[in-house]
Amino acid sequence: MHPDIERVLIARYEIQDRVKILGAEISKNYSGREILAVGVLKGSVVFLADLLRVLTVPVELDFIAVSSYGASSTSSGVVRIIKDLDRVVTGREVLLVEDIVDTGLTLKYLAEHIRAQKPAGFKVCALLDKPSRRSVPVEINYLGFAIEDEFVVGYGLDYAGRYRNLPDVCVLRRDVREGK
Ligand code: PRP
Repeated sequence: MHPDIERVLIARYEIQDRVKILGAEISKNYSGREILAVGVLKGSVVFLADLLRVLTVPVELDFIAVSSYGASSTSSGVVRIIKDLDRVVTGREVLLVEDIVDTGLTLKYLAEHIRAQKPAGFKVCALLDKPSRRSVPVEINYLGFAIEDEFVVGYGLDYAGRYRNLPDVCVLRRDVREGK
């Protein structure tokens, strides 16, 4: 295990099992339709890469990048689009893919941004949800795991840009995140 990690919260095999179930559910619900999967950079890329490969319906891929937290671990509430969608979403079945929903501010903003462009449908798939941290109500249509308010990294999630490559969802050691 990486020395900065306190413990594994969700092991890679649990994630893979859950991703397969989510993929099957999404594929069933979108039967006969094409999905425009929108990954929210950067945290969603590992989850998105796994999810895409278990979908059996046609999928087109796009990305959007926003700034929210920066290097800090608390939400400023300020969301700014750094990279917008390449594809026109009007009339498309958009599936927004997030690694984690925390306060909900990012998702609320992105949902409004995308819905304003009149997609045929708009759904959200998130690997992790921290419901105790919510400050604005948001809808998550497909969820991997609801977790307690712990500082998690790995499987795409970072702290100050690091640990995204860890294969499990892990709790970061407190002294590491406090810079001791
Ligand atoms: C994370 C996550 C969501 C957002 C959720 O992104 O990917 O986009 O924070 O937090 P919220 O519900 O409080 O808005 P982050 O800013 O860490 O960027 P990253 O995906 O590049 O790591």
